[in-house]
Amino acid sequence: MPQTIAVLDFGSQYTQVIARRVRECQIFSKIYHHATPAAELRADGVIGIILSGGPSSVFAKKAPMPDRAIFDLGVPILGICYGIQLMGHLLDGQVAKSDHREYGHGVLTIAKPGRLFAGLPKKLTVWNSHGDKVMKLPPGFVSIGATENSPFAAIEDRKRNFFGIQFHPEVFHTERGVDVLRNFLVGVCKARQDWTVRDFIEKAVADIRTQVGDERVILGLSGGVDSSIAAALIHRAIGQQLTCIFVDNGLLRRGERESVDALYQRNFKLDVRIVDASAVFLRRLKGVAEPERKRKIIGRTFVEVFEKSLKSVGPAGFLAQGTLYPDVIESVAIGANPAALIKTHHNVGGLPKRMKLKLLEPLRELFKDEVRRVGAELGLPREVVWRQPFPGPGLGVRVLGEITRDKLEILRGADAILQEEMMTSGWYWKVWQSFCVFLPVKSVGVVGDERNYAYVIALRVVESIDAMTADWTRLPYDLVRKISSRITNEVRGVSRVVLDVSSKPPATIEWE
Ligand code: XMP
Repeated sequence: MPQTIAVLDFGSQYTQVIARRVRECQIFSKIYHHATPAAELRADGVIGIILSGGPSSVFAKKAPMPDRAIFDLGVPILGICYGIQLMGHLLDGQVAKSDHREYGHGVLTIAKPGRLFAGLPKKLTVWNSHGDKVMKLPPGFVSIGATENSPFAAIEDRKRNFFGIQFHPEVFHTERGVDVLRNFLVGVCKARQDWTVRDFIEKAVADIRTQVGDERVILGLSGGVDSSIAAALIHRAIGQQLTCIFVDNGLLRRGERESVDALYQRNFKLDVRIVDASAVFLRRLKGVAEPERKRKIIGRTFVEVFEKSLKSVGPAGFLAQGTLYPDVIESVAIGANPAALIKTHHNVGGLPKRMKLKLLEPLRELFKDEVRRVGAELGLPREVVWRQPFPGPGLGVRVLGEITRDKLEILRGADAILQEEMMTSGWYWKVWQSFCVFLPVKSVGVVGDERNYAYVIALRVVESIDAMTADWTRLPYDLVRKISSRITNEVRGVSRVVLDVSSKPPATIEWE
């Protein structure tokens, strides 16, 4: 049985971040429902418990409460934010109700480093987000740190190995936060730091097998990082019980369909059904120039084609998706706070409920960089693991205005040259995205002695951390020159290449 750190989830948007930090310390953690019975935690081999934060007040009618017996398990407990208030409330201290929440930076002054703050400076900048506050310590506790607003910002019961902190050690804004967590995990819980990506894969494989049984799993393979790695992982678990459907919507880049075929069918021996639906997509897009209408048509047609192709696969029990944790937080209202709804993501719950399939999402708890490590460990090539993002509607939003086969072909030709040059120069791996955009304007050029009245291609190369903001990449001019001259020389129908030098905001990464 693995040594497990239990993270009890009281609804904080940071719960998964806590789990991630524990993984960063190479220790296995599992997120549990806040009311999980203590006996279940014991049976799982839990050696330490973290009580997450949460949006509730301990005084609220429906305040989420843990099983009180967790305090008698004899394992160390760390309460974070709402977690410390629970400790104050349930262990006979006193908690003051507050009508407003405090957010933001504070300075923690450490009174006693003890085991939790061992090796850390006396003062730390910490990130607070809390409503209620501990006013009187529960019996057995002492204060080990204070902030401007609270003498009990960090508390400890030495005998029982209980700790409470009012700030969030898991977030980036808290200085040395990971060290505080590591001190708890290693110094107090005595956890072994030997958990690796390989262990994640092994466990995920076992979980997938249990969950799926002998049913068939369907996965919509796009060739992107998330769906590719999900496919490889599920395939490792259940082999030929997995069927992938790759829809060619006629809006793919050059060679994309062929490379999916080569990699997954021939190399990985995955059951991939390539569905050529380009004719229906392009027919429905005919005459449509408005970007949002194009997106809607592409989205709807995809669902239709996907559903139809399911029929040829036969009865299936599960729909697999490469949903990652950031997709999940962006898609659900967190706790009781609807303002926390950031945006509805296209990946999550994307396919209609009427398909009556259960969801299989083995990457749901991971962050992108962790997923890439899983992909690399599964043996996927760098081209897949580090592939740049590609929008679902594909070249449909890169041919501005009405889409025709001719325009798509011109764009494919130009884009293939850009990708090739980016790869050869190594720049492909350094930027967030690099692509061409087809501009439906004609400009005059000369070829030999002849006037050439043809289209314009824009180069869009950007750097970004999360696509929320982006800046245009300062590619070396010699490289830009080479790309430009190759495109105008090799792609018929292009007379001019321009470089997009707009940042996001105010521009977006894509042009539509
Ligand atoms: P924008 O253009 O909004 O793009 O700055 C941000 C990121 O999202 C990608 N993108 C999309 N992805 N469906 C997708 O799956 C879409 O409709 C879509 N639009 C933009 C874009 O490539 C960039 O990485």
